[in-house]
Amino acid sequence: MSSSMHPGSPSPAAGALMPRRSNKASILSDIFVFAGGAAFTVLIFCGLYPSSFSVFVNAPMPASISRYHVSDRPFDGSGGVYNDPPAATYYDDPSVSYSIGSRIGEWDAKRREWLRLHPAYAAAGRERLLMLSGSQPGPCRNPVGDHLLLRLFKNKVDYCRRHGIEIFYSNAVLHPDMNSFWTKIPIIRAAMLAHPEAEWVWWVDSDAVFTDMDFELPLDRYRPYNLVANGWPHLVYDARSWVSLNAGVFIIRNCQWSLDFMAAWAAMGPASPDYERWGKILKAELSDKEDDAADDQSALVYLLLKHKDRWGDKIYLENEYTFQGYWIGIVGRLENITTKYTEMERRVHGLRRRHAEILNRDYGRLREEQVTREEALRGGEGWRRPFITHFTGCQPCSGDHNKLYSGNSCWEGMQRALHFADDQVLRDYGFRHDGLLNIDVKPLPFDYPATE
Ligand SMILES: *[C@@H]1O[C@H](CO)[C@@H](O)[C@H](O)[C@H]1NC(C)=O
Repeated sequence: MSSSMHPGSPSPAAGALMPRRSNKASILSDIFVFAGGAAFTVLIFCGLYPSSFSVFVNAPMPASISRYHVSDRPFDGSGGVYNDPPAATYYDDPSVSYSIGSRIGEWDAKRREWLRLHPAYAAAGRERLLMLSGSQPGPCRNPVGDHLLLRLFKNKVDYCRRHGIEIFYSNAVLHPDMNSFWTKIPIIRAAMLAHPEAEWVWWVDSDAVFTDMDFELPLDRYRPYNLVANGWPHLVYDARSWVSLNAGVFIIRNCQWSLDFMAAWAAMGPASPDYERWGKILKAELSDKEDDAADDQSALVYLLLKHKDRWGDKIYLENEYTFQGYWIGIVGRLENITTKYTEMERRVHGLRRRHAEILNRDYGRLREEQVTREEALRGGEGWRRPFITHFTGCQPCSGDHNKLYSGNSCWEGMQRALHFADDQVLRDYGFRHDGLLNIDVKPLPFDYPATE
């Protein structure tokens, strides 16, 4: 195992201990939770860099254009409602469907045309991300399941607010057969059509927690790619392991390639007449898949293994930071990480200066630079805040957590991770939790932590 692997990231050994994602009973109640095993931006259309577009890429959004601007032109059927000009777009084409199973062609041109007609939205200062997550339509069986889902959702909202990212949370199953961990594909497909202004769609499983509220995806690094997930190429291509990547957190570019890729992906899922056959193929092709039900993660590994020429060069497996990490290796370290960050903030005045929450991206970058400097100076890998902590196998909604975990370890781990994240948010409101397992908060003294 490479030593660069983050301690929070599952290794093949961890993969062997990794829970089954879901048993049959919990599949329906945790439909959006991808309890997977191993560890998973700009107007670029499927890897093309149209020169006419580069102008939009860096242009700042004019401050005067509000999303809620309402035109004074009347809605008289001749066009001109709000900011939507009368020229027809794909929205006016009855053959374009939001549903999987109906192919969309020329998507890049359709999206580009919409952006041309809505230049305010094309002119993003940086690549726009739309975050997607979701959970089941009905109440959770676990008595604290809905409470946990609310807090897991709040954590995503906090991250999005601090970074100017829009979020859509789905409680609907858009295709009746695409259940369990397959639910996300129809949602992503519909969201791409609903958000032509978004360059990237960022799927984040409901049981994944942002544990670094400052970190931002290095989108520049992902420019040549259309899909980024946490994973290790040698585990895909040499070990042929279904836990060589994680399909519970990924970004996918809003482009034709992605629509085609999702169609190929969904063709192995439960909406396909070949679903059962695919389950057997995946079990036979992958070295460690035990059951013969086709799951989305194994299907993704298979597409890389067998169709690398078609898809591989646009898929990037990120493992240089905790794009998403297995909670078991993380939750026990959170106090020590807090200690390191507190020491750093005692030394660096700029990091403890109180500020408006809206300025957080700037302060976050400052902290990020300092962490990088100190890491280079002192080494000590493993004290950087993990970006995303994924509660794989915990099944918060059904409560059917994997039997590998003792008693309350899942719920306690979630509480710790959620409070760890919340302390980063509450800090700008002048409070913090009195310990990671304590629901009580205490006010922060002025110039904290220098005054402690
Ligand atoms: C936390 O830090 C202490 C003191 O350096 C060390 O003894 C302990 O092993 C660390 N705990 C973890 C979980 O890393």
